[in-house]
Amino acid sequence: MEKEISIAIVGGTGNLGTALALRLAAPGVRVIIGSREREKAMSVVESLKSKLTQGRLEGESNQEAVKQAEFVVISVPYEGHAKIVADLKGRLAGKTIIDAVVPLQKGRPFVPPAGSAVLEAQTILGGEAPVIGALHNISALDLQDIHAPLGDVLVCGDSEPAKQSVMEIIRRIGAKPYDAGPAANAYVIEGITGVLIHLNRKYKSKHASVKITGIGD
Ligand SMILES: NC(=O)c1ccc[n+]([C@@H]2O[C@H](COP(=O)([O-])OP(=O)(O)OC[C@H]3O[C@@H](n4cnc5c(N)ncnc54)[C@H](OP(=O)(O)O)[C@@H]3O)[C@@H](O)[C@H]2O)c1
Repeated sequence: MEKEISIAIVGGTGNLGTALALRLAAPGVRVIIGSREREKAMSVVESLKSKLTQGRLEGESNQEAVKQAEFVVISVPYEGHAKIVADLKGRLAGKTIIDAVVPLQKGRPFVPPAGSAVLEAQTILGGEAPVIGALHNISALDLQDIHAPLGDVLVCGDSEPAKQSVMEIIRRIGAKPYDAGPAANAYVIEGITGVLIHLNRKYKSKHASVKITGIGD
């Protein structure tokens, strides 16, 4: 039997957060949707119930959600990234952070001063918790349909055990994870999303994603 895990999604009321919550709840992961407003989280959970085929969701303030979870996904627009991570510092000790944030300005990718969103979060948190980059190149639209095929997920970070545990979570949502190296690689992975956004516009799609070939099967 698979180990019980709990995951809080900071900014879980948004596009990526709600879609990820449905994907995680289906295989029985305990998901706590976090919001700056607890009532908003509760009402989003209520609205997701009709789409939930299996499992259950909870809604809380971001602060309370992270307190209750072993893993914490950061899923807010880049503008709010540094502040929310700083606000949660102190509550994240001993947890594994999954950072999905793509630095975008007017829809275009850029490299933030810390080098990437992942490095920014790790710099803020210091040794309190490992930050692992993942899910940047997966579309919320594909995630929300739990039967839709997903692209591959490039996972990066400087803690090998934390990276391995995040790769296990990626498998549970039905995607193939790849160990994409250290946190120093995060800016490349975050930046690919800018290219995917362009491809979607250019080719009138909503499903552009990344597929790795030439490795194993
Ligand atoms: N959408 C995708 O397909 C996708 C795919 C891969 C990666 N990403 C990345 O994942 C992150 C979330 O994407 P999204 O599309 O879900 O974004 P979103 O819907 O615009 O926002 C997500 C949630 O973040 C919270 N939020 C908004 N502004 C904030 C701020 N200034 N400070 C703190 N919280 C704030 C809001 O929740 P509350 O008001 O409830 O607090 C909002 O519901 C982004 O960085 C994006 O680049 C998105």
